[in-house]
Amino acid sequence: MAARTRLRRARRALLASGTTAVLAAALLAGTEATSQAATQGPCDIYAAGGTPCVAAHSTTRALYGAYDGALYQVRRASDGATRDIGPLSAGGYANAAAQDTFCAATTCLITVVYDQSGRGNDLTQAPAGGAAGGPDDLAPATAAPVKAGGHPAYGIYVAAGTGYRNNHTSGIATGDQPEGMYAVLDGTHFGGGCCFDYGNAETNNLDTGNGHMEAVYFGDSRIWGTGTGNGPWVMADLENGLFSGADVGYNANDPSVSHRFLTAVVKGGPNQWAIRAGNARSGGLSTFYSGARPNASGYNPMHKEGAIILGIGGDNSKSSSGTFYEGVMTSGYPSDATENAVQANINAVGYQTAPVTSSSLTVGSRISLRATTACCTADSLRRNTDGTVAISPINAASPAADRTAAGWTVRAGLADSSCLSFESAAAPGQYLRHSGFQLYTAASNGTALFMQDATFCPQAGHSGQGFSFQSVNYPNKYLRHYAYTGYLAGDGGSNTWDNATSWSEDTSWLAAQPWS
Ligand code: AHR
Repeated sequence: MAARTRLRRARRALLASGTTAVLAAALLAGTEATSQAATQGPCDIYAAGGTPCVAAHSTTRALYGAYDGALYQVRRASDGATRDIGPLSAGGYANAAAQDTFCAATTCLITVVYDQSGRGNDLTQAPAGGAAGGPDDLAPATAAPVKAGGHPAYGIYVAAGTGYRNNHTSGIATGDQPEGMYAVLDGTHFGGGCCFDYGNAETNNLDTGNGHMEAVYFGDSRIWGTGTGNGPWVMADLENGLFSGADVGYNANDPSVSHRFLTAVVKGGPNQWAIRAGNARSGGLSTFYSGARPNASGYNPMHKEGAIILGIGGDNSKSSSGTFYEGVMTSGYPSDATENAVQANINAVGYQTAPVTSSSLTVGSRISLRATTACCTADSLRRNTDGTVAISPINAASPAADRTAAGWTVRAGLADSSCLSFESAAAPGQYLRHSGFQLYTAASNGTALFMQDATFCPQAGHSGQGFSFQSVNYPNKYLRHYAYTGYLAGDGGSNTWDNATSWSEDTSWLAAQPWS
């Protein structure tokens, strides 16, 4: 039997006997385990600290130094076939090329996020719940490209409506038992609805009352608790409340956070809990709250049920958004020192944005931006004569003025040269900009605000097709068509054009040949 296989079996046996820490100690001490392990993973650190992982989820990397099983599964649209994606080597980064090959010329969804802890706590498509029907949407497999350890990888892009869950778990805290958890997230992708969560929730998809959840929340919801500034905030979803500290409302020590890669930590035990967070790329974790349970009834003792959710609230509320790269849940209340060591391990990944490479977005070239929503695949983004921007059907037989109106010259971003601006072919010198979150073309007035309003950062399309273009000054909003008009829109929000329905498709554009 191969040493690696023996190690995996030993891990499962040890997990079954509840002696994970022994294995972790062996991993860290350097016997057979370290000779096989490429790295030490976060779960080896938690185990050495006496608070082993009981769930470990990531589409970007192995979370144990010796893990070489599947990380996640994708399903392709063309024939419904599925494929498990594993790490490039034990303890290593995801084999994104395997996904690219399998999904070439079609689109893929992420169907399973495997639990690396050996407990079988996999995440799959969330079912309907008390707050919303289901099953929930699955994430497009290419919508959150990233680099981890210098390797291309994909995160889990949660648009409103997307959700994963496991109601039949093993080893997850119940009642008032102590646990810890962290998630590495995209700190620029968030929403204000309920609730982009990762962690412990009800096993029946219903709101069963205060204290029946304990999950990391990230977003700018003002429905329950808040911190300083305008958000987003890392908070704890404890059911019927997002908590930023002991008070059920405002807590001054929970700051707005803005790291592109964010480590968000929540942990809870008997009349004790904490929120911690930091930049996943560098530096340590700050403690935003550590103390007694909230001063409201039902949260002390807690009534945790032990399901696991990703991207949704406990009752399947699915009105928010975010991007998840990796996360774990532990048995026991991890020490700050253990979490600090995990944060150093996360820093070492060196998460980076993945540059969008496409000859169709070359600076200086003229392109058309074609809608991808099923209603509108014959439509292109075009300037109207009054300077407003819309989509309308354009083809080779369209009048020359319309074909030119749908032309955009790609320019280096006026506010950020690593992003893009789009100059109107019909009105040279005028750039695509947002104002009042609607799109227009206008000549620069030289202000910093104009430059920012006219700068968009391309990403892989949210629906898995083409590109999505993120506003540089409103990073949670993207170029969108809605009711055939051009807007800057969030995935859920206060404007009608923030409507979550079809948001992923409406914000995904093909950068194609110009019509003139
Ligand atoms: O606690 C906030 C939310 O309230 C929970 O996620 C959800 O179950 C309920 O609607």
